[in-house]
Amino acid sequence: MDASQRTWRGAMLAGLALSLWIVSGVQLPGQAQQAPAPTTPQYAPNGDLLMPVGFETWVFVGSNIGMAYRQGLPAMTAREATRADAPRFHNVYLNPEAYAHFRATRQFPEPTILVMENFAAADKEPQGILSAGQYNGERVGLEVAVKNSNPPDRQNTTVPWAYYVMTDPNDPSKVLPSSGAFGDAACARCHRQHASMDNVWVQFYPTLKKLLP
Ligand code: HEC
Repeated sequence: MDASQRTWRGAMLAGLALSLWIVSGVQLPGQAQQAPAPTTPQYAPNGDLLMPVGFETWVFVGSNIGMAYRQGLPAMTAREATRADAPRFHNVYLNPEAYAHFRATRQFPEPTILVMENFAAADKEPQGILSAGQYNGERVGLEVAVKNSNPPDRQNTTVPWAYYVMTDPNDPSKVLPSSGAFGDAACARCHRQHASMDNVWVQFYPTLKKLLP
């Protein structure tokens, strides 16, 4: 092999190594690696909760449709009283660190985030193949529960659990970038009185229920 062949071969090998390096996902200088979305609650300067990002990859703890309440619950609100009028699917996600902690200790740590997506119950799909059954149609709501004893805005937040509606009240298909916590009477009270474990409706979430003795 003469000198020019050696240089050519060297250049080929260097090129191959470079492409393997790029394919293997090694960062090039100046290419910022995207940080994973945080799974702790993030707040705006005024104390509002920022919409949790990436919850679709968290632990899916359970789903239900069309649950209504028995008459005369003291913690009932007008909003909740009408919830069975148009049946919705509720799909609930838990941040992975809280799931791991719950699995180990059967307690919800600080912080814990639960995200509940609400979907209209759809029964017709465009191909017309269905004759029965319902599926998750249009998203019509998104609510969040956060356990945090030290939120930035204590005055306006029930502790340790605070509750947020993250969709636009005038157009519930729109998710807001941030939202303020509701007062105790609107949300926390019913959860505290009737949810089976630490404000959380574990009784309806099979993924958590099966971790109990
Ligand atoms: C009258 C009782 C009641 C009131 C009031 C109430 N909830 Fe709930 N909530 C429930 C029940 C029952 C569930 C169980 C799962 C479901 O609804 O699909 C639940 C579940 C949730 C979840 C899923 C995580 C969890 O805690 O188990 C979130 C988030 C939530 N509610 C937010 C809210 C918000 C925000 C408000 C106030 C605007 C509110 N809730 C008011 C009864 C209530």
